[in-house]
Amino acid sequence: MKNKPILIRTGITLLSVTLLVAVIIFLTSSKGPWGIDSGQQDTKGLKDYYKNFFPIGVAVGPNSFDGATGELVKKNFNSVTCENVMKPALIHPEQNRYNWEPADKIVAQAQAAGMKVRGHTLCWHAQTGAWMTKDAEGKPVSKEVALARLKEHITTVVSHFKGKVYCWDVLNEIISDSANVNKMYMDTDPWFNICGEEYIPKIYQWAHEADPDAILFYNDYNTENPVKREKIYNMLKKLLAQGVPIHGVGLQAHWNMNNPTEDQIRESIDKFASLGLKIQFTELDVTTISRRDTSRAFTPEKEKKQMEFYKMAFKVFREKKDKITGVTFWNVSDRGSWLDRGGRKAYPLLFDTNNQPKKAYWEVVKF
Ligand code: XIL
Repeated sequence: MKNKPILIRTGITLLSVTLLVAVIIFLTSSKGPWGIDSGQQDTKGLKDYYKNFFPIGVAVGPNSFDGATGELVKKNFNSVTCENVMKPALIHPEQNRYNWEPADKIVAQAQAAGMKVRGHTLCWHAQTGAWMTKDAEGKPVSKEVALARLKEHITTVVSHFKGKVYCWDVLNEIISDSANVNKMYMDTDPWFNICGEEYIPKIYQWAHEADPDAILFYNDYNTENPVKREKIYNMLKKLLAQGVPIHGVGLQAHWNMNNPTEDQIRESIDKFASLGLKIQFTELDVTTISRRDTSRAFTPEKEKKQMEFYKMAFKVFREKKDKITGVTFWNVSDRGSWLDRGGRKAYPLLFDTNNQPKKAYWEVVKF
């Protein structure tokens, strides 16, 4: 008899708590109580929406795991690429000195967060120390010396990250942008100038020997331009016919709001996949800067156009998911992009200058 009021009181308390919890859940649900998107409360990140499609990556620096940006990175992405610190000039600044620390820091933080790591890049015309291809007088070294340096560099770097970096952009941007179909290679590339095309199969072979499990990519931009696409395709086809260990093609995807078209993106995916290669979009961003446009603001018109572009691109990516093994954004948020120049901001990403999801973000996750 004495216990009854206590039981009733306990029952009422439990009921109130349950109701309160239900109201809190209702009010903070990802779409909000009235179907309004409220990014801050959404517990899902980009990677979760795309878990049945492909990993979603981001290009980062050694401090990108700190603070609020770090939280954003861990919530939304399950793959990282070092924006700069694995590039030859940074990781191998002098012949007898490697600078592992910044890249090791990123790899350790990514691993602790359960993220995959893409390697970028082993051989490129840019961000490569002059010491690699020039002698003390500044003259190009001989082919033998160039090849020996390249082999040492690739073997050392790939071995260092063996088992930690799952894929490598072995060669970056060797194909010429010229509209002339017969001009295959970028003639400003120091490695090409010294060695001719014979270094290309070799670098893949060296990377493969250093880590037979690593997935090896060719990576380039303007891959939707029909002429350049044809040249890349021809080079890859020839290398594959020679038995060169190339497993994937990285389409950088530095795009703008008008280019490429939906069909061009589809055609590129299908064409490269027809070689048996896996496709990754490795450096995705959609700039809002154009030559004709003088406004510096992220206007509602730009916001809408960019949103439509992103919606279209991800629709194609989802449709082609069997051919795509990753989509990586080049930088985290509009707070800082490599495309911001001379005080002009490009606003090219899915998160705004306050690290909040943009309208384009909500279109990308709505399917
Ligand atoms: C860019 C970085 O984002 C910049 O910080 C750096 O100053 C230059 O390189 N293609 C590539 C990337 O393969 O490595 C480039 O990254 C962007 C174009």
